[in-house]
Amino acid sequence: MKKYNFDEIIDRRCTNSLKFDFAERRGRPGGLIPMWVADMDFKAPDEVIDALKKTAEHGIFGYSEPYDEYYDVLTDSLNRRFGWKPDPAAVVNTPGIVFALAAAVRAYTKEGDAVIIQPPVYYPFSEVVGLNGRTLVTNPLVRGDDGVYRIDFDDFETKIKRSGAKLFILCSPHNPVGRVFSKEELTRLGDICIKHGVTVVSDEIHSDFVYEGGKHIPFAHVKSDFAANSIICTSPAKTFNIAGLQFSDIIICDAKLREKFRAEVAKAGYSQLNTCGITAAHAAYKYGFDWLGQLVSYLDGNAAFICDYIGRNIPAIKVARPQGTYLAWLDMRALGLAQPELNDFIINKAGLWLDSGSIFGKEGEGFQRLNFGCPRSTVEKALKKLETAVANSDI
Ligand SMILES: Cc1ncc(COP(=O)(O)O)c(C=O)c1O
Repeated sequence: MKKYNFDEIIDRRCTNSLKFDFAERRGRPGGLIPMWVADMDFKAPDEVIDALKKTAEHGIFGYSEPYDEYYDVLTDSLNRRFGWKPDPAAVVNTPGIVFALAAAVRAYTKEGDAVIIQPPVYYPFSEVVGLNGRTLVTNPLVRGDDGVYRIDFDDFETKIKRSGAKLFILCSPHNPVGRVFSKEELTRLGDICIKHGVTVVSDEIHSDFVYEGGKHIPFAHVKSDFAANSIICTSPAKTFNIAGLQFSDIIICDAKLREKFRAEVAKAGYSQLNTCGITAAHAAYKYGFDWLGQLVSYLDGNAAFICDYIGRNIPAIKVARPQGTYLAWLDMRALGLAQPELNDFIINKAGLWLDSGSIFGKEGEGFQRLNFGCPRSTVEKALKKLETAVANSDI
């Protein structure tokens, strides 16, 4: 088996990289270490790169569609990874998961209807609700003294009853708090949703980044009646670091839910997929798992390194070891800074480009999200800068 070298630093500047190239356009100084938007600084598996080279060398980039074999490869890989083998006919492709979340909001709710989410959470969840004229209802996750977030089930059910919510957007594993929800937690959520007629959209884009002892369970596979009440958003984008190729697989087991969703995708004027996205996804799900296994061990090492480093050297910052995702959720409330000052401190004193906690909801105030999908030396450099900034401040 080839051994991949995730320690290699690859210069991503001047590649149209959102993460590296547009600091000034986004109102930040140059020279920051970018650890914000969730893509990784690693090359995709060799087989993916080779397949894309073959497509590029063919030189014709016409309209495209996946072969039937793609859906077999995808569903076989879901079976191997999670013990879940949906019918290949249940898969609907979209150019991305956020596109799918917006389509689902339109497909399963009417204007003004309530949609429930669990902040602090990936900020497009609230955006697709608000931008489509629906009402946002929140069931905030509760942070324990151990830094681990848990679900307030009573609040979840009360908010659903009070608002008459029709849709729940679940983030599983959860970005940014790094939770991998247990079977018991998912069962309780799903049972409440069925009881009150709430459809579940489960965003599982981070499902392949689960660490020691954790297990991701696709929501539709938690309990037999959940498949008919949910849509499962999966994608090779994060798993194989191909987000720019704009390709995702939305798995909708129930025929009625699927037809409503397809109708919304058609209304948005979307039909054929990006040919490079198809090529890459097919190669990734067929051949990419040796690479992925090595990557997940490497990222687990990064997570351990971060927790150890911060615990020993920056006690003012609290961080719980993420159970999943390649995102660390840093609790910086002890620095006593309001969010704008904290953001300024991170940029101008620490020289880092992180995601401000407050974009994930007011529950994220005083936090920063750090993307550790990068070589360990970059993580170490960033933490040293953070340590120095904290030490030099009069906070
Ligand atoms: C939970 C979650 N969903 C969706 C996305 C983005 O998916 P896409 O690029 O396919 O729209 C991200 C990216 O960070 C994410 O963290």
